[in-house]
Amino acid sequence: MPDAIELLTTRRSFKAIELVGPPPTAAEIETLLTIASRVPDHGKLTPWRFIVFEGEARRAAGAAIAAAFRARYPDAKPENVEFEHARLARAPLVVAVVSRAGPHVKIPEWEQVLSAGAAAMSLVLAAHALGYGANWITEWYAYDRGVLDALGLAAHERIAGFIHIGRPPGAPEDRPRPPLSAIATRFPGVSDQ
Ligand SMILES: Cc1cc2nc3c(=O)[nH]c(=O)nc-3n(C[C@H](O)[C@H](O)[C@H](O)COP(=O)(O)O)c2cc1C
Repeated sequence: MPDAIELLTTRRSFKAIELVGPPPTAAEIETLLTIASRVPDHGKLTPWRFIVFEGEARRAAGAAIAAAFRARYPDAKPENVEFEHARLARAPLVVAVVSRAGPHVKIPEWEQVLSAGAAAMSLVLAAHALGYGANWITEWYAYDRGVLDALGLAAHERIAGFIHIGRPPGAPEDRPRPPLSAIATRFPGVSDQ
């Protein structure tokens, strides 16, 4: 297991298809979800929840994705429909982070949405800390009402992400990161005058 700073400075995403089994154990999934639920939450509203997809349930949920795809593209080729059917079966474990944000008398909805993002990121980091790889993706079906209904989301709920988790193929190739000089400033800025 990597040390915390090493983990945080080297984490990167793996493609969902690269993540293989065996899947996290039940105890590891409990650890992942416990860490994901330990995020800043203004007003203690718990404005997020999790849906776990593992084993056969991944293709069962994929059937709803395939049905929504067929509804959009009635003439779609069978292989394309099958690709959609297998969407959630690429990695051995998928956790949907569901935002439950809504209007509140005191807590802005924006802050509730941010808390769901924090939960998703904590889940990704927890997976890496346990030695798994992860990928936070949404793809088209996260925004399809038919799919959301089939997955049991209420009208006001939204998918923050489908976190794909599995064993990584090896050390990932990194991508360029934004230089801190381009994204971080000190207030007040230095004036030339
Ligand atoms: C809310 C959210 C949704 C995302 N959805 C997708 C997606 O649908 N497809 C995709 O290829 N990457 C998606 N990404 C980006 C990946 O999670 C990842 O950041 C990207 O592959 C770069 O890898 P890195 O994490 O190593 O920087 C999403 C990221 C976020 C924060």
